[in-house]
Amino acid sequence: MKHIFFCFFVLLSLQAMAQEKNSIAVTMNRVTLQFALDDEGAPGYAVYFDKKPFITPSRLGFVLKDAAPLENGFEITGSDKRAVDETWKPVLGEVSTIRNHYEELTVHLRQKNSPNILLNIIFRVFEDGVGFRYEFPKQPNLKYFIISDELTQFNFGGDHKVFWIPGDYDSNEYLYTVSKISEIDNTAMVKSSTDIAVRDAPDKYAVQTPLMLKTADGLYINIHEAGLVNYSSMQLHVNTATYSMSASLVPDAVGNKGYLHAPAKTPWRTIIVSDKATDILASKMILNLNDPSVITNTSWIHPMKFVGVWWEMQTGKSTWNYSDFADSLSAEGKPIPNGKHGANTANVKRYIDFAAKNGIQGVLVEGWNTGWEDWFGNWKEPVFDFVTPYPDFDISEITRYAASKGVKMIMHNETSGSATNYERQMDTAFRFMNNHGYTSVKTGYVGKIIPRGEHHDGQWMVEHYLRVAEKAAQYHVMLDAHEPVRPTGLQRTYPNWLACEAGRGNEYNAFSTGSPPAHETIMPFTRFMGGPMDYTPGIFKLRNYVGYAPTRQMHTTLAKQLALYVTIYSPLQMAADLPENYEAHMDAFQFIKDVPVDWDNTKIIEAEPGEYITIAREEKGAPNWFVGAITNENSRTGNVPLSFLDNGKKYVATIYSDAANADWKTNPEAYIIQQFIVYSNTTLKLILAPGGGAAVSIKPATESNSKGLQGYK
Ligand code: NOJ
Ligand code: CA
Repeated sequence: MKHIFFCFFVLLSLQAMAQEKNSIAVTMNRVTLQFALDDEGAPGYAVYFDKKPFITPSRLGFVLKDAAPLENGFEITGSDKRAVDETWKPVLGEVSTIRNHYEELTVHLRQKNSPNILLNIIFRVFEDGVGFRYEFPKQPNLKYFIISDELTQFNFGGDHKVFWIPGDYDSNEYLYTVSKISEIDNTAMVKSSTDIAVRDAPDKYAVQTPLMLKTADGLYINIHEAGLVNYSSMQLHVNTATYSMSASLVPDAVGNKGYLHAPAKTPWRTIIVSDKATDILASKMILNLNDPSVITNTSWIHPMKFVGVWWEMQTGKSTWNYSDFADSLSAEGKPIPNGKHGANTANVKRYIDFAAKNGIQGVLVEGWNTGWEDWFGNWKEPVFDFVTPYPDFDISEITRYAASKGVKMIMHNETSGSATNYERQMDTAFRFMNNHGYTSVKTGYVGKIIPRGEHHDGQWMVEHYLRVAEKAAQYHVMLDAHEPVRPTGLQRTYPNWLACEAGRGNEYNAFSTGSPPAHETIMPFTRFMGGPMDYTPGIFKLRNYVGYAPTRQMHTTLAKQLALYVTIYSPLQMAADLPENYEAHMDAFQFIKDVPVDWDNTKIIEAEPGEYITIAREEKGAPNWFVGAITNENSRTGNVPLSFLDNGKKYVATIYSDAANADWKTNPEAYIIQQFIVYSNTTLKLILAPGGGAAVSIKPATESNSKGLQGYK
């Protein structure tokens, strides 16, 4: 394999580029893409921002199994260009209308030597970056083929700051390390991970995408992929000496990276760039590169907030399992209840009552079905059948009760990694949901994948998650997948796939080492770039738990938990704490009641990865605005000009902020709530405690809601 790249492909001035036979350039505003073949016929590309290269010449190509490598010997047989400028409306989203504006270049390549393999590379150049994909057209000498390696490179030409997690084939539930490219080595991170999935990260220089980088002169670069379908997910192998990264596809059990059949397309490789961090968060490039919805009737797809019988198990107040042991039976041959089972009918009704009373649409119940006594890490199947409730979970009564209160139940299908078992039982499971009025499902893939040797992020599982999304759509069920491959914008194509976990959620924040307060300021630049996360915010009781977690403490203030409903976009948001913990702070819970999960408009006001984020969003179909501001371990003042409000119109702002003496470590639950009259020329100064945040709801003033309120000073 060739390591020194491109004797011919030098960085050219933009004018010179246009004259070279084997070089083609496309520019959109500040971004230029250059494609070139070097003198050995090896394809490569470079990307410029304001005429300066930030992706220096980087190779493209493949190594196929049992075939000559597709790395050089190519000639350009033609190229096409087209421009697209259109708008479209997502079913659910951060904004109601999205502009899709790009210049497309398709380069048609043919290998000069027999068997003359054909390969197309399609580039789309946007105002905020470049996406490109490979296409293997239908051709006589390439039918079924196996990918041994994708050669795509990202040469950064500098030792940038990078926010990374290890290239684990099975988990994204890691803390982010912030380092120089030259310092990447994931060994310590993999060792110290508290993830309950099974780790497999054999390359100590591998990292995962979405990957966020920042150059010394303030350029923000994000690398990911869009439209991951029928292909393995792309991790990146880092050359720490040359600041170069190359695609490292997640292999299958025998080391193959992908099985394709021409005509075939790879996912898009995405490079988002700006000199403003806020532009990275506002980018719609990944969504734009995905296909439009394949679901034509979307009237059954609804965003929602939910509560659940869940946090009480996470903190050890109750259990998922009904008995303590799978094989100990009473004299009558029945399982012996342990007296702590969370998913019992009376407790579930308590959550339904709380949801109904507070306008929360959904209730999740975990641990309702048999199998939890012995579910994890066994590499055996089947564990769960997805239709057999424990004896104290009266599903008919719960179905009736929830319907009478206008609450939707959320099904839980933990597969314990046995995807084959789930596939065999999927129709039965979804029919069961339909019969009991469940309109959404949370799936889970804890542990090693069965079939053996497959990985959570490999091609076989990528196809599995899509089969589940399609099956769910067939039964009009919305999907929230835990432990799947990380999202790549497919929520555009499958709008019933509301959210994924695929990252280190709030639950880790309560574990002993937890996640530092900076975590939620990094996630939007990394994991969230691909799509919504079921992060489970909204914990109010931040320490002194009962159960097995008495010494745990969340690494956040209460006001920050409120702000997360705005800084995290997801059409599915949990109010994760227990009803009794909310009932102790109903004044603060009002924000969770009010905040929507679907938006007409989003303004990224301030952002710096690892430091702070302030976002304002306008409710879908209503003139109400919501602001969330969060910080890392340092206190700060967020400045929020309300220029997005209608000029001259009077509004009431309700500000939920950290009390003056609040601190995530020593005084996390101290908050204050204030109300003021505000206008579009008001600038809010939000004072955030260390590890803190602020949440604001802004509604048009009426006589009753503005009575006695002062103007904001
Ligand atoms: C891990 C998930 O992230 C968590 O939410 C769930 O409760 C457990 N698996 C059990 O399925
Ligand atoms: Ca998880």
